[in-house]
Amino acid sequence: MENKILEAKDLKSLDEVRVEIFGKKGLLTEQFAKLKDLPNEEKKDFAKNLNIQKATLNKLFEHKKEELYLKHLEESLKAEAVDVSMFSHLQSAGALHPVQQTMDKIIDYFVSLNFEVQEGPLIEDDFHNFQALNLPVYHPARDMQDTFYLENGLVMRTHTSPVQIRYMQKSQPPFRMICPGSVFRRDFDITHTPMFHQVEGLVVDKSGKISFANLKYILEDFLKYMFGDVEVRFRPSFFPFTEPSTEVDISCIFCEGRGCRVCSHTGWLEVLGSGMVDANVFEAVGYRDVGGYAFGIGVERFAMLIHKIPDLRSLFEGDIRLLEQFR
Ligand code: PHE
Repeated sequence: MENKILEAKDLKSLDEVRVEIFGKKGLLTEQFAKLKDLPNEEKKDFAKNLNIQKATLNKLFEHKKEELYLKHLEESLKAEAVDVSMFSHLQSAGALHPVQQTMDKIIDYFVSLNFEVQEGPLIEDDFHNFQALNLPVYHPARDMQDTFYLENGLVMRTHTSPVQIRYMQKSQPPFRMICPGSVFRRDFDITHTPMFHQVEGLVVDKSGKISFANLKYILEDFLKYMFGDVEVRFRPSFFPFTEPSTEVDISCIFCEGRGCRVCSHTGWLEVLGSGMVDANVFEAVGYRDVGGYAFGIGVERFAMLIHKIPDLRSLFEGDIRLLEQFR
């Protein structure tokens, strides 16, 4: 009987052994049944031995049970163990927002041409956002931008151009820099949101070293890099901080210039503003005998065109069904 207990391999077979030994028809019970047929003088010794045997078997049984239970526990813990370092196939990876992706692509182009990347504050003073950019107080050109004014006279910057001023105040030409970042205007329709992004560009060198041809070359090359084989057109325009100023169009990427709803049947899409830096801007930062050009790119506008997004506002609704398409 001892051996049966000792040889049990798991809790289940141990339980079978239990029934076999201690059960109603078990081996031990059979022994006790013999008691009643024995002569009285033998009964006492027989019962005593049997009880000792029973106690030994019980002890052995409990001991074995404990041993098998621990073994079982260890095995099942091993089997159920979770590997926290393992990837689940259901896990979906995050991705950059389409506006950020577009911004990164723009930045990559200019960084490859050795432009330095600069940042500036989102809340600006009137001097940096307007005055130094040749937009004096009460000048009607301020109406070109619907500004969020703060109570203390500061403004949410309406463009990234104030970073031109901040950069020039702390450095000396020659340099080429870009400034990516968010800007704010009181606008809201299918092509405008109150917060959007621009990438500003500024190149300055000694007078006579930078010409309009340089501006034209770089913007044409940049637009072909962004949109592929498009035609580029420079149109005279006005910005207070550039003179001459030009708005830049590409041939419509939806109809290849034939005319469609997106390009208002003109065959052209306006994509950025630029020009030669106005002398008054250089004066505001104390620069003499220099020349340069500047440009401002609307990142959302680029993202909309590249991805054919019909309503710009949808980019900022955080709807996962839209964003998932840009993984
Ligand atoms: N700051 C202008 C805007 O926000 C864009 C621009 C930048 C134009 C630099 C010319 C030169 O509309």
